[in-house]
Amino acid sequence: MTIQWYPGHMAKAKRQMVEKIKQIDVVIELVDSRIPLASRNPLVEEIASGKPRLLIMNKIDMADRQATQQWKHFFETEGVTVHLVNSQTGQGVSTLPDAVHKLTAARRKKLEDRGFRPHADRALILGIPNVGKSTLINRLAGKKIAKIGDRPGVTKAQQWIKVGSTMELLDTPGILWPKFDDPQVGLCLAATGAIKEELLDFQEIAFFLLKTTLHHYRQSLADRYNLDSLPELTGTGEDQDKLVQLFDEIGKKRGCLMSGGYIDYDRVSEIIIRDYRSQKLGPLTLEWP
Ligand code: G4P
Repeated sequence: MTIQWYPGHMAKAKRQMVEKIKQIDVVIELVDSRIPLASRNPLVEEIASGKPRLLIMNKIDMADRQATQQWKHFFETEGVTVHLVNSQTGQGVSTLPDAVHKLTAARRKKLEDRGFRPHADRALILGIPNVGKSTLINRLAGKKIAKIGDRPGVTKAQQWIKVGSTMELLDTPGILWPKFDDPQVGLCLAATGAIKEELLDFQEIAFFLLKTTLHHYRQSLADRYNLDSLPELTGTGEDQDKLVQLFDEIGKKRGCLMSGGYIDYDRVSEIIIRDYRSQKLGPLTLEWP
């Protein structure tokens, strides 16, 4: 579910999350591997201040494997602990409690030194809508937990889910709002369906996808739309014309014509966006370190 966020919602969601985080030991931030920067909200830094953090790159099946490794390396060199997950199949999920446990070693040692027995690692999953928070919580819980929806400020009684012998997870995720002041970030979020495409121009999203694919995944593009040759982008004003021609060619191949033989750009856009989301173009990443 994608909703509009208003300043009041954001302030309330932030307050609630700061309260929640007081009870937890590790903040698990979830991002979409296809857009590892655009699907982050920089506010996490502030909300999770002082707590150990684990960055989960989810939906690895939908992203370019090589790009995911590059991102992992990038984040790790920044000192962030990264874990790769496919919440839909469960890949990477069973080792998650261990990754969390490593992050609480210092806290546990401190407690033990003072003669206390440390409690289980208490974790909270947070992230912007659609990154897979509920899917991951359900995986870790081994059952379906009622979804509260991505409504800011909607609360339900929260419970701890026991995961293995070392971890306890809050059954309600922390929901951050997508941050898209930067148009490029907005395009990434709209292309993956994290924000409503109506918030941006439909054709602009398809154009962005076409440009990115043409740049990084030429073979996938040629194969999908049966294109004999592809234009070379040069980073000049001519690129726009080349992309429009490519749009036309895809439109013709797919029979997206209006009366008078004109190309129906809305239909071509719809096809490109749908193909990307349903992975007909393959597992593609939309931003690089
Ligand atoms: P949220 O709580 O963060 O808002 O996200 P949610 O779990 O609802 O997941 C959003 C969509 O992403 C869901 O698809 C979910 O199945 C899918 N998803 C989550 N994790 C993964 C993953 O690792 N790989 C893939 N391929 N998909 C993932 P949906 O189409 O919105 O719903 P549904 O068809 O699963 O019911």
